[in-house]
Amino acid sequence: MAIERTFSIIKPDATRRNLTGAINAKIEGAGLRIVAQKRVHMTRGQAETFYAVHKERPFFGELVEQMSAAPVVVQVLEGEDAIRRYREVMGPTNPEKADPGTIRKEFALNMGENSVHGSDAPETAAKEIAQWFSGNEIVG
Ligand code: RTP
Ligand code: MG
Repeated sequence: MAIERTFSIIKPDATRRNLTGAINAKIEGAGLRIVAQKRVHMTRGQAETFYAVHKERPFFGELVEQMSAAPVVVQVLEGEDAIRRYREVMGPTNPEKADPGTIRKEFALNMGENSVHGSDAPETAAKEIAQWFSGNEIVG
């Protein structure tokens, strides 16, 4: 399995509760390396662009509202099979369905405020990384 990169967001519900370090410990414990990281406060426009694929969904407005309401930490994670591996340690969108030990089981509040985002495929990972980082900000 090749070394891959994925894009991660520690969402506002988690930064508000001072969980950045606890979530990073889960990420590193899963064998993923944090090769880029910064704290940003998304504008509504940036959140709309990021989640454009969900534009027609009923939760879109609430999602954009939540993602731009407080700071987030955007990250690039690197490792073997990183996209799948990160989604595994995140757990499913609905934290009630998450396995013990996953980030969402331990920290998520509900479907919307579910503490983290992780890319779902190589193409989306590349696109999402490019929205937030330039090449020289990623140091593997
Ligand atoms: P993500 O994209 O954030 O990594 O999460 P995901 O793949 O597990 O979930 P996705 O279906 O891509 O949805 C993106 C985010 O929208 C919010 N959501 N709310 N209230 C709802 O029914 C609902 N469904 C999705 C969540 O914050 C989800 O992470
Ligand atoms: Mg998704």
